[in-house]
Amino acid sequence: MKRDLISIEDLGDELKEVIDLAIAMKGETKDGMSMQPFKGKVLGMIFEKPSLRTRVSFEVGFTQMGGTALYLSPNEIQIGKRESVKDVAKVLSRFVDIIMYRAFRNENMRELARYAEAPVINGLDNVEHPCQALADLMTISEIKGDLTGRKLCWIGDGNNVLNSLMLGAARLGMDVSAGCPSNYWPDAEMVERTKRIAAGSGSTLEITDDPFAAARDADVIYTDTWVSMGDEAEKEQRLSAFRPYQVNMDLFSRAKPDAIFLHCLPAHRGEEVTNEVMDSERSAIYQQAENRMHAQKAAMVRIAGLR
Ligand code: CP
Ligand code: NVA
Repeated sequence: MKRDLISIEDLGDELKEVIDLAIAMKGETKDGMSMQPFKGKVLGMIFEKPSLRTRVSFEVGFTQMGGTALYLSPNEIQIGKRESVKDVAKVLSRFVDIIMYRAFRNENMRELARYAEAPVINGLDNVEHPCQALADLMTISEIKGDLTGRKLCWIGDGNNVLNSLMLGAARLGMDVSAGCPSNYWPDAEMVERTKRIAAGSGSTLEITDDPFAAARDADVIYTDTWVSMGDEAEKEQRLSAFRPYQVNMDLFSRAKPDAIFLHCLPAHRGEEVTNEVMDSERSAIYQQAENRMHAQKAAMVRIAGLR
C-alpha cells in the first residue's frame, strides 16, 4: 500500500520519528556517510507555481540519495487544463517512483494522490505545506531540544503554512498562539482539528487579533508573506490589513530573550518583517531553509518504507 504526504497529519504519531530521522540523516550527509536508497529511481516534480527552496531541495536531496529528479514546469503539464488530473496521475505513475506536486488547489492534490500508484508528496497547496512544517519543527528541535511545552507564536496570515505548522506543533506537545487580523484567522476546521490534537498531547492553541499578546513569552516567532501565491488580486487590501502585524524588534522583544525567528521564505523585507529581525543573531531562517532538504529526504525514505 503506497503512502502519500498530503497533510502533515499523514505522518500521525510518526512525526517525531521522522524529525529525528531527518536530524540523523543531516549528520550522515555532513559526515559524508549518506546511503543511496533511491539509486535508479525517479522523482517527478510538478510545479503550478514558482519555487526556489522546494524545487532545489527536492532535486538536490533526491540526487544525494542516488535518484534523478525531473522538473515539470507550470507550462508543461497544465493539470486539469491540457489533461485531466486522473490521466496525469495514471501516466506519470508509469514513469516515476515518487511524485512531488505544488498545486493551487488541494482538491487537485487529493485527486492526484487518489489515482497515482506512486506516492504523492504535497510541495504546497492552498491548504497545507507539510514539508515546510517538517523542516520548521526539525529546526526548532535542533535549537531548543525537547519541544514539549515550548510556545510557538505565528504572526500574520492564517494560511497554508500555519495550518501544517499548528497541526504538527500540537502533535508534538507545543503550545501555539496565532496573532492574525480577524478576517485572516485560520480556517475553523483546521483550528478544530488542531485543538483535538492539542487536547491529546496536553498542549494549547490560542488565536487572537492582538500580535503582542500572541508573542508574549514565545520560544519561536514565525511569520510569512501577507500575499500568498494565488492571493495577488487582494494585495492592496491585505497590505493595509496586515500592517500592524509586522515582526519588528518591538514585537520580537515580547517573546522570551532567547526566542528564535523563523520565516518559510520568500520574505518581503520591510513588509511582514524588518531587516533587523531577519538578520538578527536569533534569526534561524537559513538553517530552516537548509532543513527543507534534510526533512524531505527523511520523509521520502519513511513513506517509501526504507527506514
Ligand atoms: N518555503 C518555500 O516553499 O519556498 P519556495 O516557494 O521557494 O519553494
Ligand atoms: N504562504 C506562502 C508560502 C510560500 C512558500 C504561499 O502560499 O505563497
